Amino acid sequence: MGPMIAYLGLSVTMLSLAVNCHSDRCLVGNNHKTLPSPEPGMQACTKYSQSSCCYANYTQQLNVSPLIKVNNMYWNTCGQLSPQCEQYLKNVDCFYHCSPHAFHWVNPNNSYSIIAVPICRSYCDDWFTACKNDRTCARNWITDWEWNEQGNRCKNECIPFHQMFKDGKDLCESMWSPSFNVSSSNCHCLMLDDNNDDIIEHLLTHERGTATPAQDVHQDVDRSPFCQQRYKKMQKKKIKAMKQWIFFLPPNALATIHSLSTVSGC
Ligand SMILES: *[C@@H]1O[C@H](CO)[C@@H](O)[C@H](O)[C@H]1NC(C)=O
Ligand SMILES: *[C@@H]1O[C@H](CO)[C@@H](O)[C@H](O)[C@H]1NC(C)=O
Ligand SMILES: *[C@@H]1O[C@H](CO)[C@@H](O)[C@H](O)[C@H]1NC(C)=O
Repeated sequence: MGPMIAYLGLSVTMLSLAVNCHSDRCLVGNNHKTLPSPEPGMQACTKYSQSSCCYANYTQQLNVSPLIKVNNMYWNTCGQLSPQCEQYLKNVDCFYHCSPHAFHWVNPNNSYSIIAVPICRSYCDDWFTACKNDRTCARNWITDWEWNEQGNRCKNECIPFHQMFKDGKDLCESMWSPSFNVSSSNCHCLMLDDNNDDIIEHLLTHERGTATPAQDVHQDVDRSPFCQQRYKKMQKKKIKAMKQWIFFLPPNALATIHSLSTVSGC
């Protein structure tokens, strides 16, 4: 019996080592766990349910639309955000609170913030498109507020996102600055609507996940089999999203979508 138990104990240790092989940890914060673990009961941020830095109960407040307030912070300071814009902000919140990978980009000066997470240009462009007609008074949603006991209030006037930010890159790099930087690679970067497990593993083995390694390095890696495969997946996802709008499209658009899917081999 003894050796059997010892053996079992050893396997459990090895298993947990395997799970933590990329030393995933959690950022520090009121809503962060110490270490990521499964959270089967999540109502939002479910892409992280297999390994999450937030408790399931944290996500209850995100499973609401329109979203008025998350923790201490009002999201509707310039009126209600559109559902599609809100979704991008939720993705940021989920990444920051729940992703077991966010810690890879921890700020060396404090463990509650992240710095220069490499984010994909195309994701930022879609984010900009989703929010461009919504309104905001803050260019930086971390710093540009007046705070009182009730929460955050506008310091500046409300203007449309498309006036506040120049484009997707400006939005991604300014709104939560210094958290995200647009990667010069279209492959070595995160899409926050994804759990990003495969790309993060790839980043960590290839370049430690820095936002801006030399451009020529990227041109090579972007041709690698891994990246080719990732592009294919991204394209498939885009086509799937387009197909959800199919009922609103004229018939010739269907033919276009069909030929697009044929070209991308899916
Ligand atoms: C959320 O759940 C965790 C773990 O189950 C618990 O420790 C914590 O107090 C809960 N928080 C709230 C606000 O209910
Ligand atoms: C961390 O603090 C040091 C010393 O104050 C400073 O020089 C450095 O720029 C800071 N790093 C970041 C990423 O903020
Ligand atoms: C991230 O972007 C900011 C603003 O564009 C820039 O100042 C900074 O150097 C970039 N950081 C990295 C690591 O590329």
